[in-house]
Amino acid sequence: MDCTTESQNIIIDVHVSDETPTNVQLELRKGLESTPRRLPTKYLYDDRGSELFESICELPEYYQTRTERHLLNQYADQIMSLTKAEELVELGSGAATKTRVLLDAMAQANQLRFYVPFDVSEGIVRRVAQELVKEYKGLHVHGVVGDFLTHLEHIPDGGRRLVVILGGTIGNLDSQSALNFVSSIHAEMASGDFFLLGVQLETSIKRIEAAYNDSTGVTAAFNKNILNVMHEMFGATLNPDTFDHVALYNKTDHRIEMRLRSKESQCVEIPGLDFSFELEKGEDILTEISTKYDHPRAEKLLKQSGFDMIKWYSDSEELIGLALARKP
Ligand code: SAH
Ligand code: TRP
Repeated sequence: MDCTTESQNIIIDVHVSDETPTNVQLELRKGLESTPRRLPTKYLYDDRGSELFESICELPEYYQTRTERHLLNQYADQIMSLTKAEELVELGSGAATKTRVLLDAMAQANQLRFYVPFDVSEGIVRRVAQELVKEYKGLHVHGVVGDFLTHLEHIPDGGRRLVVILGGTIGNLDSQSALNFVSSIHAEMASGDFFLLGVQLETSIKRIEAAYNDSTGVTAAFNKNILNVMHEMFGATLNPDTFDHVALYNKTDHRIEMRLRSKESQCVEIPGLDFSFELEKGEDILTEISTKYDHPRAEKLLKQSGFDMIKWYSDSEELIGLALARKP
């Protein structure tokens, strides 16, 4: 692990480099050999990808971010008085824009001490740490750069904790992985700690599909960026111009699926993985899923992972749900 102290109130631990090259290669090859072929979602978020995602959050079609922010504005004070949290741990923190609403409420209640942004994207964790120590006097930021599916044990110890996941990130895991993930979060927490889980709710298919296929093409650029990442990291001969961005709702699994559809038949070489494969014209690579929940499905996930759900907040259109849970 690399550890750097940036300034008096910032520590950043970097765990992404802990992964052995063989594990990275095996994970990627396994995905690319499955049907449909898959690429791990986390590779969407290099510095460029994180920037593009920030743009997605501002799109008129992407109703999720503003709705979640609105809900947080409404309930942050209540959440902080219920949880008495002094440490906020955010998994998949990204640009931490909505996080400010929670930090403001903690500061207001005089209980803000620590913030732990945990994200696979190193540049954004560093940027957010710098910004927040300036914005919140006396705040200590301990950033963790790592994969939240494998590096959770590196969350630093702190005071009374609130762990949060926002932005529909839980929906990016299939149901079994989500259960494993929330269970391992539970295992890392102390009895009495709180967990705030944001979920995107099932709404009209037209509205969901538009949120993942905007008219200006930002989402398409974000999706295709994973091909640039594969080129930079492993020398993959994946040319973004030979793929179409496709976002289709899968009703059975309650999820939208982001795919890259090959416009031509091509042979893909990935020297860094010592791997090559044939892609047929019209064949897809699945890059991301985004599962839509409802109140019972969210509660079930929390219960099965060992949490008690104590509050359920939602907006009037029922687009976003925020579940506040506690480890008994
Ligand atoms: N919380 C922010 C960002 C959500 S996007 C919001 O609500 O807008 C999802 C975030 O999770 C990205 O910042 C991405 O880099 C991060 N992420 C995705 N997979 C990850 C993984 N396996 N481990 C750690 N972070 C991951
Ligand atoms: N967590 C976001 C979501 O599920 C991720 C996301 C938004 C995304 N738009 C995307 C992923 C487009 C891939 C492509 O809403």
